[in-house]
Amino acid sequence: MLELRNITKTFGNVVANNDVSIMVAKGTIHAIVGENGAGKSTIMRIAYGFYNADSGEILFDGKLVSIKSPHDAIALGIGMVHQHFMLVDNMTVAENIILGAETGSAVNLDLEQANKDILALSNELRLGVDPRALIENLSVGQQQRVELLKALYRNAELLILDEPTAVLSPQEVDEFFAILRRMKEQGKTIIIITHKLDEVLAISDEVTVMRDGKAVGQVKTSETNAKDLARMIVGRDVLLRVTKTEADPDRTLLEIKDLSVSGKNGPAVKGISFSVRSGEIVGIAGIEGNGQTELIEALSGLNKVTGGTVEFDGKDVTNQSARQLKELRIAHIPEDRHKRGLLLEADLAENSILGVHYRPPVSVGGFMSEPAISKRVNEIIENFDVRPGDPTLTAKSLSGGNQQKLIIGREFELHPRLLLVSQPTRGVDIGAIEFIHRKLIELRDAGAAVLLVSAELEEVTALADRLLVIRDGKIVGEVDPQTTSVEDIGLMMTGGN
Ligand SMILES: Nc1ncnc2c1ncn2[C@@H]1O[C@H](COP(=O)(O)OP(=O)(O)OP(=O)(O)O)[C@@H](O)[C@H]1O
Ligand SMILES: [Mg+2]
Repeated sequence: MLELRNITKTFGNVVANNDVSIMVAKGTIHAIVGENGAGKSTIMRIAYGFYNADSGEILFDGKLVSIKSPHDAIALGIGMVHQHFMLVDNMTVAENIILGAETGSAVNLDLEQANKDILALSNELRLGVDPRALIENLSVGQQQRVELLKALYRNAELLILDEPTAVLSPQEVDEFFAILRRMKEQGKTIIIITHKLDEVLAISDEVTVMRDGKAVGQVKTSETNAKDLARMIVGRDVLLRVTKTEADPDRTLLEIKDLSVSGKNGPAVKGISFSVRSGEIVGIAGIEGNGQTELIEALSGLNKVTGGTVEFDGKDVTNQSARQLKELRIAHIPEDRHKRGLLLEADLAENSILGVHYRPPVSVGGFMSEPAISKRVNEIIENFDVRPGDPTLTAKSLSGGNQQKLIIGREFELHPRLLLVSQPTRGVDIGAIEFIHRKLIELRDAGAAVLLVSAELEEVTALADRLLVIRDGKIVGEVDPQTTSVEDIGLMMTGGN
């Protein structure tokens, strides 16, 4: 269905794709895996006409084609769902689908007809999407389906999905994969980029592994396994689950009493009490949207507490500003790195000093100290393996996983006493996950208190010393992450027990 031949693409000094050849058979699901920055998004964006290759050829359905823009790709029957959705929040599903953010030209101006056609398409694949719903009222999982519908509405025969499951809950992933299988039964060809090896094994027929801009292998899924794939991706053996010693907690650093916080649809956190001690990782497991975002935002000073108290190291810090909390060495790794974590247009150096830009050693007597900034950014690049490690690059030009390492590195530079961390490894490759998990354990062992929120049950159970389950803004129980099964935790999360 798609053959990429000897594609090379450079951005300045960075060779994003180096003589890449990939063959995707018609009617199959083809996974693309590889480390952050390996060139996965770039090669697929070339197939979609979002970027033009410096050299190489593209064959589609056996014919040599010229794809200069997404417009050309769509005309051929190629659709793509990007790593970050491109939907307009205050418009309806149908409006988004017929407008198509990338091409800027409407494909159909008859909204009533579009509503009918989209509903029919949605029913055919059992997507359950209402064409008249506003995007801003949809869950992330539903928005994902809108992106799929957008491509299908344009008669895509080949669908390229860039990390479609990164933002989905485990249940949503299962439903999403069922949809992909139905699409495959209809004869569609699907390319899926993912970092999750269990997903590769569950859904794909073939896998291409990329490393350092090259395609280093293509294998049949039935002839490989997680361990072998991990080795091909990283070039060495990878520990797929972190090992740690038992926690040795000391005194209580964070104490939350009867805390309430409002979200955009009313009360989100409803009278929560718990504490985190120095030297332990407390995990919060829950389906997304059950108050965890609002809880962490309130604790990091980004959202107001509406009831109850927050104490840090014995002092009341309820409703202190983000800056005041940072000065107490409370660090925050946010879940949405684009909205909260980075200035995308600014360079790595500027991003490395966010939050500490106004005080020594970065700012001295009203002047920014270039040597201090340079020292800081280079330390982060070095210690957190941010690639490419050039301080003058914009944050935007880094791959998703490398953006995440930059944020984590910056927060670790505060030498946190308390670390608030949400979804630390979302979109991060397996080698970097191993690395980030080890860093979190090291921080714990150095005496920090860590409060971890993650939608990945594997991740919270592997890292947490104590695990709280949140549902509908309340803590519904505490479990031992070592001995409680993932199924039992899942039941508590959904209220099925
Ligand atoms: N628009 C751009 N400008 C400059 N450099 C870029 C641009 N897009 C990608 N790059 C660089 O090209 C390389 C490949 O990036 P790409 O986004 O394809 O990686 P990826 O495999 O998709 O990574 P991830 O798993 O983190 O999403 C990286 O070094 C990245 O920094
Ligand atoms: Mg990518």
